[in-house]
Amino acid sequence: MNEPELVVATRVPADVLEKLRERAPVTDVAGTPRAHWDGALAAATGMLVGSAVRVDADLLDRAPKLKIVSSVSVGYDNVDTAALKVRGVAFTNTRGSLVEAVADLTFVLAVMAIRRIGLSLTWVRDGRWLKGDAPFGNDVENATLGIVGMGTIGLAVARRARAAGMHVIYNNRNRRDDDAHIGAEYRTLDELLALADCVVVLVPLGEATRGMFGDAAFAKMKPSATFVNVARGAIVDTAALLRALEMKKIAGAALDVTDPEPLPPDHPLLAREDVVVLPHVGSATFETRRRMAMLAADNLLAALDGRPLLTPVEL
Ligand code: DGY
Repeated sequence: MNEPELVVATRVPADVLEKLRERAPVTDVAGTPRAHWDGALAAATGMLVGSAVRVDADLLDRAPKLKIVSSVSVGYDNVDTAALKVRGVAFTNTRGSLVEAVADLTFVLAVMAIRRIGLSLTWVRDGRWLKGDAPFGNDVENATLGIVGMGTIGLAVARRARAAGMHVIYNNRNRRDDDAHIGAEYRTLDELLALADCVVVLVPLGEATRGMFGDAAFAKMKPSATFVNVARGAIVDTAALLRALEMKKIAGAALDVTDPEPLPPDHPLLAREDVVVLPHVGSATFETRRRMAMLAADNLLAALDGRPLLTPVEL
């Protein structure tokens, strides 16, 4: 690769930028409108993106020298992988670097939903605490956690849940052969929805999972059950979730991801006491985000130097 040039289109720590700059000129376009990226894209051989950057044919056509796109994320539903493949552009993500941070947040949200913490928070803020007893939730111990998507993050969530005394059931595209070892029982999706006291979604967004949680799925859940999404907002039909909550088909929801994302401040979900919404912070710890950015940078550098990519995504 002659005279490499890099474009960084997502915010990364200064030392990560510095590491890239030691190897090749870097244009940092993070936070600027993509309409202004033409000059940088025209020269770019490598590009660092995040999950909020759409990598599509339009962007790739403006970057004819591009050899690699490295994403500071695990999910890549923002990336047109077919468009990368036809152009011979390699792609990497940061799988493995955020498992524990996302599992922590997932478990926190499950506990918040089961214990109805959203209601308690508004109770205190609205002064209702002054007028009477605070609201109750349910026990976490002995509750059944239903994990939809049992990959590495699912396993880390299951570990936390078992330590808290929960029963763990799971559904996965392919049934695992280590149920006894991971302490979780496989169920069909319908069985899981009917049995779980809290359903946690951890599947990637793709054609098979877009809108997977709609009216039909929520109707199969117990009215006392809660719903947690830490994967991608579009896996859930937001209007159907709202209907399920309004009609008390489920008892509450805790969401780290939404559709649309961000939610506008006047969105009806945000006015509900039975819903907790976080601004997509599953991996947002200083340590984890730094590790992700460094891994993404190392993937770029490996590509520039002709070394094997650390976490390539097969296109
Ligand atoms: C990921 O890495 O996919 C996280 O959701 C951040 O986008």
